Amino acid sequence: MSRYLVTSALPYANGPSHLGHLAGAYLPADIYVRFLRMCEEDVIYICGTDEHGVPITIKAEQMGITPGEVVDRFHEIISRDFERFGISFDNFSRTEKPEHYRFTQEVFLNLFKKGYIVEKSMKQFYCDECSRFLPDRYVGGTCPECGSANARGDQCEDCGSWLDALDLLKAVCEICGSSPAPRDTTHWFLRLNAFQEWLEPWLEAHDNWKSNVLNYCRGWRNEGLRERAITRDLDWGVPVPLPDASGKVLYVWFEALLGYISSTKELFTKRGDPEGWKKYWFDPETRLVQFIGKDNIVFHAIIEPSVLHGLGSYVLPWNIPANEYLTINGEKISTSRGTAIWLTDYLAHFPPDPMRYALAINAPENRDADFTWDEFRSKNNELADVFGNFVNRTIKFAHKAFEGVVPEPAVEGQAERELMASIASARDEMEELLRNFKTKAACLRVMDLAREGNRYFDQSQPWKTAHTDRNKCATAIYYSIQLADSLRILFAPFIPFTCEKIGRMLGSSSLLWKDAGGENIPSGRKLGEPEILLEKLRKGFEEVMQPEDSRPESTDGEAGKPAIKETVSFDEFMKIDMRAGVVKEVDDIEGADKLFRLIVDMGDHSRQLVAGMKPFYSKEELINRKIVVLVNLQPVKIMGVVSNGMVLASDDGKGGVYLLQPGSDSCPGDGIH
Ligand code: MF3
Ligand code: ZN
Repeated sequence: MSRYLVTSALPYANGPSHLGHLAGAYLPADIYVRFLRMCEEDVIYICGTDEHGVPITIKAEQMGITPGEVVDRFHEIISRDFERFGISFDNFSRTEKPEHYRFTQEVFLNLFKKGYIVEKSMKQFYCDECSRFLPDRYVGGTCPECGSANARGDQCEDCGSWLDALDLLKAVCEICGSSPAPRDTTHWFLRLNAFQEWLEPWLEAHDNWKSNVLNYCRGWRNEGLRERAITRDLDWGVPVPLPDASGKVLYVWFEALLGYISSTKELFTKRGDPEGWKKYWFDPETRLVQFIGKDNIVFHAIIEPSVLHGLGSYVLPWNIPANEYLTINGEKISTSRGTAIWLTDYLAHFPPDPMRYALAINAPENRDADFTWDEFRSKNNELADVFGNFVNRTIKFAHKAFEGVVPEPAVEGQAERELMASIASARDEMEELLRNFKTKAACLRVMDLAREGNRYFDQSQPWKTAHTDRNKCATAIYYSIQLADSLRILFAPFIPFTCEKIGRMLGSSSLLWKDAGGENIPSGRKLGEPEILLEKLRKGFEEVMQPEDSRPESTDGEAGKPAIKETVSFDEFMKIDMRAGVVKEVDDIEGADKLFRLIVDMGDHSRQLVAGMKPFYSKEELINRKIVVLVNLQPVKIMGVVSNGMVLASDDGKGGVYLLQPGSDSCPGDGIH
């Protein structure tokens, strides 16, 4: 047994998470962690939100709220979405916690005393128009490395180079667009060059890492490591813990990396074992595995090991499985161009497993992977046809022919021996793949096993032998049930919610990797009722999730569109009070086949509404969905139930009704105008 400390990059709390985040650093880590737990390894999975730095202050300026309000809001949204996706962190902290402040300041002082951090005067861009220094993303310009126009003061969006703002070509102030000029200021520098001699052989020794990480590091070595400023002129962040350092905070990257450690400390404090974290961070036997997107490589492979080495006695990364990017319809995800698919929006329409599956089987492991809704649907329908169908037909047959009781196998023939051997080899091959971060190949492998299950079932023809040879029939069903349980185990890291349902049908919930291939479900056990495992995904559903300008346009005056109503004055319009709400409960109304009774969270109160949504939405689709409510409509009684307002939806006049959805940044109670 080994000890694993697994981390996912701390997401910036400056916006909700989207599919690109999930596919890059969270889902692959969760699959790995779930698998390790099933192998009974000692593993903890650590993360939290990254709440400092320019990404946060810029967002606060854009939203017209304080940085503190920004991070509070997005910490909630990010952690809730990850939880609903089943991302099974042991701890999800925040870098705004006092313990994190204390710890990072301690680390700074430690390195400062050792001479690894030095104070220097430097030049930095200053904007005369805005009367301020322009740290990091406050400056934009052309990348000196690759020539892309998408470079910022700290990093190039396109090639990922870590930049010095002063090296940018054609620098502009991102706030006002004017050209900034360099000005003197004082900062503290991390002497990375002091670590170069140690770092090179250390990196050299990790030739088993993914090639994207190794290539990136090679580039860096050739260039040589330079001193880098690790403080900034900002009033949001962890203050530099030295006298005469007012207005200076620690650079977000220096401080956020230490969030892995402070989040681990928090975990063990919560567990009532405040010293427990040390075993994970100080014992050289610990395998520190850090899942990141490729834009984070330099920080995890160069800066973090240098800092930890400088501190002494800390564990260093054992592996850094960096993923490439997810594109959508062949395009880079851009939040500003509205091409991101937000987790919140997805979860308002679909359960988590279909997306987990689609992103696992098409993971951006070694090259960028493209996401399309067509592919999403076809992959999931394949999963339903192959895996869902096998489990379903097996359980249904057991109910039909054996009264839902696992039959006694009579004859174990060649086919059964082969089947059991196949499960064992799938298990072992998958283990090898998963231990080596080959999520996609492992997912393909378990699908092959499910296909084999269908072949076994077809070839044994239990529907015939039920009448001709009961023993043969019982054997086929017994072994199909054993395979269903093994598939439940082997699929569990990928689609845990579906596997839980199978567990309920088979009466088995234990999740041990080594049990796959065993005869785990004894004869005589009463099986649960068959449940629908994987719903076929309807076509057209995703259209409501597409950015509006990419939906098919309707032409003016098209038949079926009502004429525009009489003009109202601005004052009349302003009498209407619409607000964002979140559906919390959905019930049928007796005798009404089109209506639901909804209880909606409006932020400061909940209210009951009656809505004619039943023909268009299922209860699952409505629960936790964000909607728009007209709140000052005179209450009415519909089928004996009082409706306190109206739910707004668009209607194409041809039977297509779609609920209006406030943006994913909105909260219950937010006004709409
Ligand atoms: N917040 C950074 C990003 O989203 C990642 C930080 S990883 C950390 O790109 F460990 F440094 F926090
Ligand atoms: Zn400016």
